[in-house]
Amino acid sequence: MKILITGGAGFIGSHVVRGFLNNYPTYKIFNLDKLTYAGNLENLKDIESNVNYKFILGDIVDGAFINDLFTKHQFDGVIHLAAESHVDRSISNPLEFVFTNVIGTVNLLNAAKNIWNGNHEGKRFYHVSTDEVYGSLGTEGLFTESTSYDPHSPYSASKASSDHFVRAYHDTYGLPVVISNCSNNYGSFQFPEKLIPLCIHNIKNEKALPVYGDGKYTRDWLWVADHARAIDLVFHQGKNGDTYNIGGFNEWQNIDLIKELCRIMDQKLGREIGSAEKLITFVKDRPGHDLRYAIDATKINKELGFMPSVKFEEGLEKTVEWYLANDEWMNNVTSGNYKKYYEGQYSNR
Ligand code: NAD
Ligand code: DAU
Repeated sequence: MKILITGGAGFIGSHVVRGFLNNYPTYKIFNLDKLTYAGNLENLKDIESNVNYKFILGDIVDGAFINDLFTKHQFDGVIHLAAESHVDRSISNPLEFVFTNVIGTVNLLNAAKNIWNGNHEGKRFYHVSTDEVYGSLGTEGLFTESTSYDPHSPYSASKASSDHFVRAYHDTYGLPVVISNCSNNYGSFQFPEKLIPLCIHNIKNEKALPVYGDGKYTRDWLWVADHARAIDLVFHQGKNGDTYNIGGFNEWQNIDLIKELCRIMDQKLGREIGSAEKLITFVKDRPGHDLRYAIDATKINKELGFMPSVKFEEGLEKTVEWYLANDEWMNNVTSGNYKKYYEGQYSNR
């Protein structure tokens, strides 16, 4: 099987690429990535010389390039993760999200439709999406696969739009598609604009921990390698045209999560317990901030046997250990442009 993975140099994509290469030694894995600020080939150093792996530098927004690539390689499967993924950046630059997340997705759908040309035996287009398309929950309830879409940020609106296009290509052209909508991931190689690595980095450097609003916003956290395992299951066993919600059954209010991180960091750094918590700083809220996300992952559990394998407290500790042991990775990604982004994002809060 020849599989195109898009966004394989990013956080989740790098875990998916590694998982597929390790689990399927007969597959050829092509990783197409533009290497934006979030894409980093250092995330894949351990597998870059695998004979079944090929990296392709390219932009999914470039339709002609995408068509040529599909014609040249005749992929059997696509696992599409490439995206602009950070909500705060979507608030300051929504168009970039429309280009990559919407137009980029439609370019890939078109290219797959053209090369498969109605012959769909053994073919699959897998679109990796997010729970944010469902909008926000109150204090009760869970997102199921039939929850109506209600996106609030430019990021989630662009992902919702891409999901609709994927389903439209299934319904209109019979494209063999599958979609999953996952909750918040955490683990190694996550870019430190996102809450957990940002806090780890700031605690280490004794900088303020910016908590948006009252900190009572709630997210459902999943170990990234568990998400990669779920993606493997959905890719191989998911039903054509179906959607699978993926989650950790693991809800945390941001403030409690940050306090838990503070405790682990104080312990690992040999600092007095309580010193990291002093860095907590309540700042201006994110506009349109969704109160709560929580996934009902019954379908993927019942149909494909998926269960998260890593307990959150254990995963969080492993995550902290990984970031502390990979100082060089952190220093490389937080230099240059990241510094500018950070100063702009947090200067008026
Ligand atoms: P990320 O930002 O870490 O990585 C995105 C990757 O896409 C980067 O390697 C980047 O270089 C690449 N990319 C961006 N624009 C591109 C373009 N125009 N052409 C080619 N490559 C491009 O993102 P992530 O957190 O790993 O998320 C991956 C996917 O999973 C996204 O589709 C996201 O919506 C979805 N998702 C993420 C989470 C999460 O918690 N991080 C949860 C659910 C779903
Ligand atoms: O739910 C899945 C989504 O999870 C993915 O689709 C997105 O790609 C991914 O970025 C993530 O989105 P969130 O907005 O939930 O993640 P983020 O890490 O940006 O924020 C998590 C929570 O922490 C959220 O309630 C906002 C809050 N926050 C975030 C940052 C960066 C803070 O309080 N302070 C911060 O500095």
